[in-house]
Amino acid sequence: MTIIALAGKGGVGKSTIASQIVRGLSVRGTVLAVDADPNSNLSDKIGFETKGTIGELRDEIIADPAKVPSGMSKQQYVYDQVQRAMTETDSVDLLVMGRPEGEGCYCFINSALKECFVKLIPNYDFTVVDNEAGMEHMSRKVLPQADIFLFVSDPTVTGIKTAGRLSQLAEEVGIEIGRKILIVNNLTGEMPVKLSDAAAEAGFGETLAFPRDIFITESAMESEVLIVPCDTPFGESVRKLLELII
Ligand SMILES: Nc1ncnc2c1ncn2[C@@H]1O[C@H](COP(=O)(O)OP(=O)(O)OP(=O)(O)O)[C@@H](O)[C@H]1O
Ligand SMILES: [Mg+2]
Repeated sequence: MTIIALAGKGGVGKSTIASQIVRGLSVRGTVLAVDADPNSNLSDKIGFETKGTIGELRDEIIADPAKVPSGMSKQQYVYDQVQRAMTETDSVDLLVMGRPEGEGCYCFINSALKECFVKLIPNYDFTVVDNEAGMEHMSRKVLPQADIFLFVSDPTVTGIKTAGRLSQLAEEVGIEIGRKILIVNNLTGEMPVKLSDAAAEAGFGETLAFPRDIFITESAMESEVLIVPCDTPFGESVRKLLELII
């Protein structure tokens, strides 16, 4: 059971990278893919139709608590419903978080969801969590731990600083992080020394460079589903990342 989480500011390539990690891992074991972005970007990229979202489920229960059948604990009901909302294939199951909660008291349901994750995750060899830029779910600590936390940045000093702040936030909210890795995505050449320095200053011990890849740009013009071949520069970087983390 290995939990891999990704975070980073908007549009830096989290879902692009997450989708190819899910693909790469799916031939090595069972994967729970968690799309924690309200725009359900990851689902599109891995080509899954979404059934329902955790956000919808949460709203339904809050609106009508009587939905929980008598004789069933709320906790069990939430667990069953979460499983019903999942899209399942042979090696990958997808869970979509959907939109974050609105006003009102969501304490119970959030704690039920946390327990749900704790119960679900050990059923899979790998869990991959694609966080949204704002990291609402993360700050509500739905995710208990991340064995590997990938912070994705664009190739700018400012972007790397932001990634450093996000990694601090993840620690502050109490997520147990095993290993932190910075991914500098969209590089058009070698990693500039200034960016390596910025990474070290932001507290990253491990940094990986991911190239800007024309294959991704062209693929996006044709389809939402993304399958990056291993022999492209980006595919090669994904392979190296997987070698490093599993
Ligand atoms: N290495 C790359 N080479 C070329 N294009 C890329 C690369 N990485 C990402 N992109 C493109 O950049 C755009 C944003 O990528 P993506 O949706 O993965 O970012 P994100 O961090 O998940 O964004 P959001 O915060 O909106 O969820 C997409 O159009 C994607 O195709
Ligand atoms: Mg995304």
